Amino acid sequence: MAEPSKITIKTRLPVGLLPPNLERAQIKTERLVIRPYTQGDLAGMHVLRTQPEVMHFTMRGCIDQNLAETQERLDWYLPPRDLESYNWAICLAETGEQVGMGGVNRLKANGQSGWPEVGYMFKREHWGKGYATEFLRAFLDAWWALERSEVELEVDARSVDGIVDGAQAVAIPDRVTAIVDANNRGSLRVMEKAGFRQYKQFVEADSRMGYEGKDITLVGFIRSKET
Ligand SMILES: CC(C)(COP(=O)(O)OP(=O)(O)OC[C@H]1O[C@@H](n2cnc3c(N)ncnc32)[C@H](O)[C@@H]1OP(=O)(O)O)[C@@H](O)C(=O)NCCC(=O)NCCS
Repeated sequence: MAEPSKITIKTRLPVGLLPPNLERAQIKTERLVIRPYTQGDLAGMHVLRTQPEVMHFTMRGCIDQNLAETQERLDWYLPPRDLESYNWAICLAETGEQVGMGGVNRLKANGQSGWPEVGYMFKREHWGKGYATEFLRAFLDAWWALERSEVELEVDARSVDGIVDGAQAVAIPDRVTAIVDANNRGSLRVMEKAGFRQYKQFVEADSRMGYEGKDITLVGFIRSKET
């Protein structure tokens, strides 16, 4: 029998249990301070989101046109919406400069895989220094440590190694996914360094502004806690 592309599994996710920004402790790594957003991050986020090379590989594909557009995005991460995602400002420990942002925007990716989806972006002048990998490893430690409750989730069967048990929902330890443009070689490498496994490649309509009518090839990655 052909393997179904989607299956329902049982897992444990921090749905409805994310702490508010005020209760989130900073995450510290060797070179980074990863902290919850405040309204004071608007200017730093705008610099990041107005670099064309950075925005090119995001779903939006183009820069923010003005501060109001950046504010709209920042509002996703400020109270009262801070409870909906687990996204962080990434700063240099030495200078405090905000060099990037990243985390889980969607707790249950309604699109491709079903699992929580992680993303990240860094200012162009800071690429190639290992910051994305350093961030992702530390972020995942914080992610796995969050309080969880049991949920049923419809996921891509390939993300759970094709484990299917008829009508029964199998219990699977939680995972995170990331979807990367097949041409984004830097991010593909970050995935590899952070212990993610490629589980699919697919083509869909390109959602980026300026690419209407074109297709994009994407790579799906999955990471379990124990990897
Ligand atoms: C992708 C991105 C986050 C990587 O950040 P970073 O801090 O430079 O990542 P790291 O330094 O931790 O690792 C990058 C790795 O990719 C490699 N790399 C970068 N560009 C590459 C390219 N064009 N071809 C091959 N390898 C490349 C680097 O050499 C490095 O690998 P190494 O440590 O083995 O040398 C950054 O380029 C970015 O913000 N891009 C725009 C937004 C984006 O693409 N976000 C991800 C969406 S899925």
